[in-house]
Amino acid sequence: MLNYLKLFVIFLYSAAIQCADIRHEPIQPLPLHQPDLNLKLVDLGDRLFHDTRLSQDGTISCASCHVLSAGGTDRLPVSVGVGGIKGGIKAPTVYNSGFNFTQFWDGRADTLEEQAAGPVHNPIEMNSNWHEVIAKLRRDPDMVMSFEAIFDDGITPQNIVVSIAEFERSLVTANSRFDRWLKGDDSALTDFELSGYRLFKSYGCISCHQGKNVGGNLFAYMGAMGDYFKERKKEITPADLGRFNVTGKEEDKHFFKVPSLRLAAINPPYFHDSSVETLTEAVQVMGRYQLGRDIPAEDVKAMVAFLNTLVGEHRRLKP
Ligand code: HEC
Ligand code: HEC
Repeated sequence: MLNYLKLFVIFLYSAAIQCADIRHEPIQPLPLHQPDLNLKLVDLGDRLFHDTRLSQDGTISCASCHVLSAGGTDRLPVSVGVGGIKGGIKAPTVYNSGFNFTQFWDGRADTLEEQAAGPVHNPIEMNSNWHEVIAKLRRDPDMVMSFEAIFDDGITPQNIVVSIAEFERSLVTANSRFDRWLKGDDSALTDFELSGYRLFKSYGCISCHQGKNVGGNLFAYMGAMGDYFKERKKEITPADLGRFNVTGKEEDKHFFKVPSLRLAAINPPYFHDSSVETLTEAVQVMGRYQLGRDIPAEDVKAMVAFLNTLVGEHRRLKP
């Protein structure tokens, strides 16, 4: 009898560990499953995300700049759009973008739906418009059928962005080693990586990079503790003005959405202006300009090791 009781207690204990959300930390694990996703929409959105008919000359799709096998970015200092035209800012990853509180570095789109119309119309990205895109898609009987199977009103701008956004919400890189540690698996991190996480908290990185996405939930000033833009020794571009471009308020100059660090380890170069090539330099710059400290090399190394443990899995991602 006592043995049964013991077994029952062990069962309860292990069930509690599995359900328990988890270690009490300022970062939470990404969800392993997303039961609420509409898989038909995800499928259609996937095709549209890879469809070059969304661009004026049929050469560029969303996936040209957000390469899913390579971290959801183009890993270029600035993106290259239709006709080889260079943009003015680094492309962030589309992975986990559904967890950001707004979209774009300056937060000019509130939702993924709103965001998706941007590149289609942007003259230096896809340089097209809904009229052209819809005319092209309507000439494809297979596309017409796919839309009609889901939507009463067939191919419309709204239905295109709804599908793409649902696909993007499926781009979640769960099950990183750090998430496994958060869920109680002590063996998921080495002591050095764990020390990196502790430093990330104690230096105060966590005050800006936190939550599920380790970022993506607030705006912050670039250069809180030092004049980043002056010391960068490069002309100020419109993109450098950040949030100011949306609000027109002087006090919003150089504010940016704090980027997610989930895939930072595999998506160089860093910052909106791609001013540094390596994660090591990025951590040093953050120390200097956001925290006012020259972080010792050994601490930088440990934090870089921690950032590497944040890279999770997705069937499209090939790290
Ligand atoms: C020519 C390259 C290019 C193309 C094509 C492109 N993007 Fe982007 N994308 C970018 C750049 C650059 C940014 C950052 C712009 C900014 O913040 O001002 C961005 C930002 C985003 C973001 C915001 C992510 C975040 O964390 O803020 C999402 C989501 C996104 N793109 C999805 C898409 C979708 C969907 C398409 C296709 C409809 C697309 N992109 C086409 C380059 C591109
Ligand atoms: C005051 C808020 C704040 C603090 C504190 C902070 N960051 Fe940042 N972090 C930002 C902002 C804002 C950006 C984007 C800046 C830009 O692109 O110009 C950023 C960008 C980054 C990037 C580049 C990500 C990318 O994809 O380009 C890394 C890496 C990073 N931070 C790591 C850290 C580390 C490590 C610490 C602690 C040593 C830290 N941050 C502290 C706000 C902060």
